[in-house]
Amino acid sequence: MTGPAPIPSQLKAPRYPDVLQHVARTQGTPTYVYFERTIRDQIAALRTAFEPWGVRLLYAMKANSNVDILRTVLAERVAIDAVSPAEGALALLVGFRPEEIFFSANNMSTADIEWAAAKGVTLNVGEDGSLDRIADLVPGSEISLRVNLEVGAGHHAHVVTGGRRSKFGIVGDALDAAITLAESRGLTVVGLHQHIGSGNLDVNPMINSVERLATLALKMPTVRFVNFGGGLGVPYEPGQSEVDLHALANGLAPSFSRLVERGIGLWMEPGRFLVAESGVLLAEVADVKRRGDVSFAGTNSGMGHLVRPALYGAYHAIWNVSNPTGKLEAYDVVGNICESGDFFGRDRLVQHIRRGDILAILDTGAYGMSMASEYNLRPLPAEVFVEDSGQVRLSRAREDDEMVAARYLHHFRPELRTN
Ligand code: LLP
Repeated sequence: MTGPAPIPSQLKAPRYPDVLQHVARTQGTPTYVYFERTIRDQIAALRTAFEPWGVRLLYAMKANSNVDILRTVLAERVAIDAVSPAEGALALLVGFRPEEIFFSANNMSTADIEWAAAKGVTLNVGEDGSLDRIADLVPGSEISLRVNLEVGAGHHAHVVTGGRRSKFGIVGDALDAAITLAESRGLTVVGLHQHIGSGNLDVNPMINSVERLATLALKMPTVRFVNFGGGLGVPYEPGQSEVDLHALANGLAPSFSRLVERGIGLWMEPGRFLVAESGVLLAEVADVKRRGDVSFAGTNSGMGHLVRPALYGAYHAIWNVSNPTGKLEAYDVVGNICESGDFFGRDRLVQHIRRGDILAILDTGAYGMSMASEYNLRPLPAEVFVEDSGQVRLSRAREDDEMVAARYLHHFRPELRTN
């Protein structure tokens, strides 16, 4: 007896190919599919790694604000990092309590601050210039300060958030003045926060940044927690290794024990690590054309639905769901958007692709749908959530073209509405 054909080492396979085929058949494409099991497994992996330290987990919901994902996170008693009033409002609607929401909006407007104050969520302030306004608008409040201790790291320059060239956080030489100002205006700094960047497979920058954060926190008697941000990467490419959580926990241990001894709580706020590998984008091949050495496989999705390849040159593995044992050939897998940067993968070995095939773009659960747009007026993908029980449910329906067009008219001038 021969088993299934082995997966060539150049390829990364999806975890549940049969479910993907079923979803494509029943819900059509383009569709994002999310697997609850993977999210729960990732949460469990972090909890196990940090077990002795009781690290409080928050989910950076900017990675994916799908309601079924938020409900999974809520059921796991993971709290929320929200960066806009609408994110916070959605978290409240889903059932998170205000004290479970850490509000980290960047360059907070007065409206942002007023929203946070009205809802009673914790303000995390990254601009020293905002402190006066906060003291006026929310007198006597307890706040967290986002600091930038000049450690930065990320998978691309656009996602490095520490260091002097980054717009984020209050840097060292402004910090003393910010703390003095906050205190003199009656604010109490109960938390310190830092986020160095995103998509890190190397644990050393985070270890280094937490050492600095711990040293600062231990000088501040009012501080009750430190939040050392998100930033853990996932292996997108075949051959890449996962983050070594054991090495991370060991490396953080000396800082953690200094903090815990002083009764300071430890928080972290991953986004990508919890959801990236739970998601797959399904697209259908509309055409295959050969030009010289290159074959273009053109799909019914594109950079509007998954902008990471265009924006960062990000790698997402591609798998032919309808021809998994096909011969490997090189393709540029592209979208239907009118830009040459509109690609999912260039020069990729994929199982032989035919018109009508369903392609799975893997590890797209983070910063896929949450960064999607209707560019070229292509409707957003549907979203399907696969529960632990195996139940497959439509989480968010796809709008059709007429609905998108009608909505645009609706938001334009009322007198031009046709109905
Ligand atoms: N905390 C703060 C303050 C953040 O700004 C972010 C992400 C996170 C936590 C979560 O980071 P994560 O654990 O997901 O790395 N669009 C980019 C990633 C941008 C990350 C922005 N901030 C991408 O697709 O790679």
